[in-house]
Amino acid sequence: MTSNQPINLLLGWPTPALHPDRSLHSAATVVLADNETSTPALRYGPQLGREALRQGVASWLTDIYRPTSGDIASSRVGISGGASVNLTNILLRFSDPIYTRRVWMIEPTYFMACPMIEDAGLTGKLRGVPEDEEGLDIEFLRNAISKADADGDSEAKPIKNYPKLFRHIIYAVPTFSNPSGKIMSLCRREELVRLAREYDALVITDDVYDALSWPTDETASLESVGPLPPRIVDIDRALTGGSEWGNSVSNGSFSKIIAPGMRVGWFEGTPKFVENMGKVSGGCIGHFSSSLISQMITTGEFTKHIENVLIPTYRKRYNAMVAAINKYLVPLGVKLNAGSSYQSSEDSAKIAGGYFLYITFPDAFPSADALATWAKTTQALTIAPGSIFTVRGDEGSDRRSHKTFGRGARLSWAWNEEDVIVEGIQRLALVVQDALDGKVQQDEAGAQTFLAAMARIDIATTA
Ligand SMILES: Cc1ncc(COP(=O)(O)O)c(C=O)c1O
Repeated sequence: MTSNQPINLLLGWPTPALHPDRSLHSAATVVLADNETSTPALRYGPQLGREALRQGVASWLTDIYRPTSGDIASSRVGISGGASVNLTNILLRFSDPIYTRRVWMIEPTYFMACPMIEDAGLTGKLRGVPEDEEGLDIEFLRNAISKADADGDSEAKPIKNYPKLFRHIIYAVPTFSNPSGKIMSLCRREELVRLAREYDALVITDDVYDALSWPTDETASLESVGPLPPRIVDIDRALTGGSEWGNSVSNGSFSKIIAPGMRVGWFEGTPKFVENMGKVSGGCIGHFSSSLISQMITTGEFTKHIENVLIPTYRKRYNAMVAAINKYLVPLGVKLNAGSSYQSSEDSAKIAGGYFLYITFPDAFPSADALATWAKTTQALTIAPGSIFTVRGDEGSDRRSHKTFGRGARLSWAWNEEDVIVEGIQRLALVVQDALDGKVQQDEAGAQTFLAAMARIDIATTA
């Protein structure tokens, strides 16, 4: 151990040194150079965002996903104020507190998604669906959704008079999931689209980490991974028989690939879906920031930043974290659960990416809450214990968590450099050793205080 400085492996923020300050500064200089460019950036923007940015995003998405159904048209893309606020906005436009039966959320779930869904009036309707090695458990969902339909009041009249309301919402992070790090298999993605069509469900996917991918093999070239896994929205477009509204929307964000403070994202759905999203009141959110991003895309600075800065940096940190876990934690009985990795074809390399991985502690250990509390108090180390990824208000999710993801923790490589990551894992190994030696008390009150403090400090301000 080199110091007793606090180490935070919970934070899902890019290190400030990774913000593209200079590119943004140049973009701002161009945008503000004269009235011709500053006026469109500083007045209220078009509801769905600037056409140049919609086109820029559409062609970038076409490049990275290479969808089988062809190029993505800008009419399929809208600009948002980031994935968080856009999740609520999608629900405000396409769900109804009376008519919509349930919101099915992959568990463990991205914890900030729960309050954002509740903000759309859907409190009490959230239900967890377990995730296995291949992704969301489709059979569990099929049984639960058909039961909810059978139990529900078929006469439920919507409050809203909007052109399209969905009876069910399904929320997932299919690629490099927050928090599990898993990638949903192609087969599950297809099954999910079919099931959504069958039950009048809208699948909302946060596709915010996809662009940050690299081979799991440290020595393989970046090109060897092939195209990214198709998003649910790509599969929905490719499978025949869909409606003009579609049954899916991809929720994207520049927070992880430019900077969270930009507060800009995008979404993709059918042109009809996107057009209806344009009716959310308030104008294009983050319009000035989006003008800077548009400029970064036009000059090529955006893709250069991802390819030359972010991917090499995160790849090194990921490799350092995985190596340290294998060296210090696995021999003590801790498991690394990244799920089975995706391969775009037989000869392509397997992919890793995003910001997170998930570890599970041995069954006989005290709870992950107790371990996280112990890590904080004895090692000044912050980790995200599994209990915070339970689907809010769902007793089933809470019950399942004690035997599954609640026994683990999410670790992020986004915030710290390699040496700090390795030291963080070494400190965690000391915590695990303390647990093996019976020193970690199952201090429920202490854990509650710790979790409450995290909720105030970390969770309210992190993701
Ligand atoms: C799955 C997921 N969705 C959404 C967000 C937040 O996106 P934004 O900053 O665009 O609101 C995060 C950030 O951690 C995330 O992990």
